Amino acid sequence: MHRHDDRRRPTRLRGMNAQLAHLRVRGNEAIGPYSLLHVERGQLDPGVPGQFFMLRTEPLLLPRPMSLCMARAGELGFLIDPTGKGTEALARLDPGDRITVFGPLGHGFPLDATDPVIVGGGIGIAPLPYLSESLRGAPALLGFRSDAHAVAGALLPNAEIVIDPVRVTEPLAEHLVSRPEATPLACGPEPMLAAVGRLASHAWLAHEAPMACGYGACFGCAVRIDGELKRLCVEGPTVLAGRLYVPDHDSSPLPSAVGVPA
Ligand SMILES: Cc1cc2nc3c(=O)[nH]c(=O)nc-3n(C[C@H](O)[C@H](O)[C@H](O)COP(=O)(O)OP(=O)(O)OC[C@H]3O[C@@H](n4cnc5c(N)ncnc54)[C@H](O)[C@@H]3O)c2cc1C
Ligand code: FES
Repeated sequence: MHRHDDRRRPTRLRGMNAQLAHLRVRGNEAIGPYSLLHVERGQLDPGVPGQFFMLRTEPLLLPRPMSLCMARAGELGFLIDPTGKGTEALARLDPGDRITVFGPLGHGFPLDATDPVIVGGGIGIAPLPYLSESLRGAPALLGFRSDAHAVAGALLPNAEIVIDPVRVTEPLAEHLVSRPEATPLACGPEPMLAAVGRLASHAWLAHEAPMACGYGACFGCAVRIDGELKRLCVEGPTVLAGRLYVPDHDSSPLPSAVGVPA
């Protein structure tokens, strides 16, 4: 087969529904300070909300993990916060550019959770539009640091939005008083996840760690789960709050991770 055709054919990993595919960018849309990258889906499975894909483009050596934000027909949507070399390269992609996509990887949110309430902070909103769609518009609470960042809240039209200094855990605490059985499904910065975990140990938290491979080979993503260092890409990235140690920068120092990739 011609080399070009070979590159277009997805490679399936045994025992997983993850595939590696070389795909074309359809567009890149500014959503406040974030970029919503639209990529053709090819034959990739969008997976469960909260699962992630490894995205690589030139000139990056290593791929970067990104949650799936939207799964429209024939398309994958990724919401990107351009904070460094990799995310800036992804946010700069133009229609027609090529990108390597590997996934879906890890474990997503439990879609059968009791009385789910979606909770997001900042770029932690990324997996939540797909989650909200899958849960048919479950209640959602979002917190942002500024009006400019809160523009992304429009991706979840039914969400209640708060802006700093109001923390998203304030409306969440009220929600849990009126609905104590509710299960928070949360994604956001570590202090927010730590606070959600203190409010509800039965919450599910989408955690982050530096990831070089995304499928368990490099051990770069080790975090403390059940009191031991475990690979977040294999155990998570969504983990039951009661199992996960989330460093809270507001009150405690960061523990050192094992083998952070270059
Ligand atoms: C499972 C998973 C899903 C993710 N989903 C998204 C998403 O949908 N959208 C999105 O914008 N980002 C997401 N991220 C975070 C994103 O992968 C990192 O921001 C990115 O890899 C940083 O690469 P960089 O080269 O741009 O920045 P770098 O130059 O490597 O770092 C820029 C800044 O980000 C910090 N940083 C780097 N990696 C991480 C990380 N994994 N977690 C926390 N801080 C980090 C660095 O300390 C530095 O301050 C996700 C991460 C994981 C693990
Ligand atoms: S990212 Fe390589 S083991 Fe998790």
